Amino acid sequence: MRFQTNGPHDDVGKADIIVGIQWGDEGKGRIVDLYAQEYDVVARFGGGDNAGHQIKVGETDIALRIVPSGVLNPHVALFIGGGTVVSLTGLLDELDRLAAIGIDISRVKISDRAHLVFPYHAAADRSNERARGSRAIGTTGRGIGPAYGDKVARTGITFADLAHPESLAEKLRVNLAARHASMPDEALPSAQELLDSTLAAAQRLAAHVVDGVDYLHRRLEAGDRVLIEGAQGSLLDIGFGTYPYVTSSHTIAGGACTGLGLGPTAIGRVIGVVKAYCTRVGAGPFPSELHDERGERLRAAGGEFGTVTGRPRRCGWFDAVAGRYAVRLNGLTALAITKLDVLSGMGRIGIVTGYRERGRDVGFAAAGSPDLEVVVEEFEGWKEPIGDVRSIADLPEAARRYVARIEELLAVPVELVSVGRERSQLAR
Ligand code: GDP
Ligand code: IMO
Ligand code: MG
Repeated sequence: MRFQTNGPHDDVGKADIIVGIQWGDEGKGRIVDLYAQEYDVVARFGGGDNAGHQIKVGETDIALRIVPSGVLNPHVALFIGGGTVVSLTGLLDELDRLAAIGIDISRVKISDRAHLVFPYHAAADRSNERARGSRAIGTTGRGIGPAYGDKVARTGITFADLAHPESLAEKLRVNLAARHASMPDEALPSAQELLDSTLAAAQRLAAHVVDGVDYLHRRLEAGDRVLIEGAQGSLLDIGFGTYPYVTSSHTIAGGACTGLGLGPTAIGRVIGVVKAYCTRVGAGPFPSELHDERGERLRAAGGEFGTVTGRPRRCGWFDAVAGRYAVRLNGLTALAITKLDVLSGMGRIGIVTGYRERGRDVGFAAAGSPDLEVVVEEFEGWKEPIGDVRSIADLPEAARRYVARIEELLAVPVELVSVGRERSQLAR
């Protein structure tokens, strides 16, 4: 039987969005895989291979970086939108990996507007991080910031450029020279090596590149159901996250419009994926972080190690102040809670319900304040494993109360609760 969501809605021509509402790794990939069963197209709108979206369906257990998480639904078209930044070698490796397990990769289309990430971007990322010293962001080192930097500086190279080898060669030469000048100690490929490898990759990818605006709008106009997949999390948004400890793109739902060339009127539902506790990988404010054995227990029970870099993720209580902030940023219509099973056997569980600074109530904007104190509401935990529960009503009473409290604090209906990594492990 197919999974029934409350969507897609009835409005033909509208796209629904799934976004993470914390600091990434909420389980977006796992939720997109589930919802994708009811859609015809799944589209990524931003980020690059800094994302790591893990999906488990039966024996298949894959981590996706740039290919949309609808991939294990054979009927779904997979679209990498114009707001993304794409490493050619990374994409080709991923496509090879997917083809090797029998996936039809001809379903993958890439917008001609998407920008390319070159080895000189990754080198600049590393070099910038070194220069920041103790204030390093803890990036994934994939070159994401420098690639978006080039895009904004109007020196970026797009998939459309791959069809014009002569001007491509010139752009690569100029960009490489600038990077050589700013990072004389970094070993970078020569302009010719870079051009040769880029053209070879371009040849392999040519059949996948489309006019991205025309492609997506035609699908919508034909009545196809489009699901948009966020990467990273709302609190890593370049404009509204914990700046400068953020990624370099708009990760919030509005980024889906600018990243895909859609107007706001083309958007239907906006579903926020939220982990039942909080994690963050890399540096930056994290008010509900636990620095004791409870944080370590969450890390161990939740397998909280980065999909991309393997770094241990920082862990803490669910933060309702951050949650309410993200509800506003995204205009959420529903919530999907993930990893509730990880809290089984945790003992007492906390939710951060308020921030205080020098005796005054403050909002999420104060998250980085050195004087910040958090207000924690404590809950009785539950001991039972819940991986086999399929209905929210059948959860242990303490777990039900915890879910109901999240719903109440965020004032957005909970549409489903994920209780394990496998596609079937969900309660509704
Ligand atoms: P994403 O970046 O938001 O797609 O999330 P990641 O894939 O980086 O990290 C989420 C991790 O939690 C993955 O390993 C998922 O397989 C796993 N996961 C997702 N949902 C659940 C759940 O409900 N319970 C458990 N135990 N693991 C989950
Ligand atoms: P998914 O899609 C968690 C974090 C990095 C770093 C900051 C900037 O799997 O949820 P960047 O390489 O983007 O310049 O790093 O953002 N970060 C993520 N954290 N999940 C992600 O993606 C992330 N993508 C970037 O750890 O703190
Ligand atoms: Mg991830």
